[in-house]
Amino acid sequence: MNNEKFNFDEIVDRRGTHSVKWDHCPSNDVIPMWIADMDFKAAPCIIDALKKRLEHGVFGYANVPEEFFTSIINWFDRRHNWRINRDWIEYTTGVVPAIDAVIRATTKPGENVVILTPIYNCFFTCIESNRCTPVEVPLTYNNNYAYTINYKALDEALSDSNTNTLLFCNPHNPAGRVWTRDELLKVNEICLKHGVTVISDEIHCEMMMPGVHYTPFASISQEAQANCITCGSPSKSFNIAGLQAAFIVSSNPSIKASINKALIDNQVCAINPFGLEAFMAAYNYGESWIEQFNQYIDGNFKLMKEIMENELPNFHITPIEGSYLAWIDVRPTGMTSADVTKKILNDGKVLVNDGAMYGKAGDGFIRINLATQRSVVEEATRRIVKAMK
Ligand SMILES: Cc1ncc(COP(=O)(O)O)c(C=O)c1O
Repeated sequence: MNNEKFNFDEIVDRRGTHSVKWDHCPSNDVIPMWIADMDFKAAPCIIDALKKRLEHGVFGYANVPEEFFTSIINWFDRRHNWRINRDWIEYTTGVVPAIDAVIRATTKPGENVVILTPIYNCFFTCIESNRCTPVEVPLTYNNNYAYTINYKALDEALSDSNTNTLLFCNPHNPAGRVWTRDELLKVNEICLKHGVTVISDEIHCEMMMPGVHYTPFASISQEAQANCITCGSPSKSFNIAGLQAAFIVSSNPSIKASINKALIDNQVCAINPFGLEAFMAAYNYGESWIEQFNQYIDGNFKLMKEIMENELPNFHITPIEGSYLAWIDVRPTGMTSADVTKKILNDGKVLVNDGAMYGKAGDGFIRINLATQRSVVEEATRRIVKAMK
């Protein structure tokens, strides 16, 4: 690690850069705090790698080099104590394309796929696009202290003979939980009991609040490794999601071969030259940047929480363990989350996500993206307070 200090306070004007997050604001005075991307410049190591590639000037089809695989292997070994074998890795254009292809490879149309809700909305679309049925097992909301897994309900859902897959999210978006090793062991035990395969989306895994520890699902035991397919990418944590590169890990050769076929069938088996360079730079050189990013988000969260707790007692803020997405229970206001979202937009000029888009269990909550400059977080929070008072 080097000693370089990164300036997350620097305002970056993203208007006019064809940004989904900014272009979808209904007017120029709206602060976007919805979709999960960051308003920070990427780490200098990534920008340098991209500049070098750009200056070469030729952008033909990219060949994925050995360095791509070693960047993943070394990163997870070094940071998360998970030893991945080179032969277990496939690459693709994103984690959503990865999940879609893995479901295609591991299920038959008509089967159930179990999800723990509230959950990232694309889980529903990936399951449905493969003509399977999403079965929601709600997480348990422990009044104002985050979520836990309802093992009994999970056990029941997985006991259905038409259910062969659990689509899991570790860390969990939008609930903000980073599952502990014990929780993963319990989930794994229930899955093995029912012969259910685990697909674990671990895209949020680098974004941990201080003192929180991420455990890769596949790393908890030999059995979990054999039964789990991991989908991941540095894209979310290093703000390079638009460059579209991701990986899949499966230690089961026959499942891996089916996944490879599904990636080809879905036409998502190539990575573009920029995605490739950014991916490798992030995993090879991005460690100190992500450490400082995590500290910064912790500060953003504390600031928003302090203001809201003083000013909006009807907003119950769940703790963030991972990622940069605040998840707030607005049911005590007596309004629906759709109405709260509308009011925050119309009266406060802040765009946030209505939790209802993450499944029935998300209804009554809102999600706020804190991956922006501290001054913007403060301004947006004050606007939300004013709108809701
Ligand atoms: C849990 C989760 N998986 C996947 C994605 C998107 O992945 P990608 O852009 O690589 O398709 C997101 C984006 O927010 C996410 O939260």
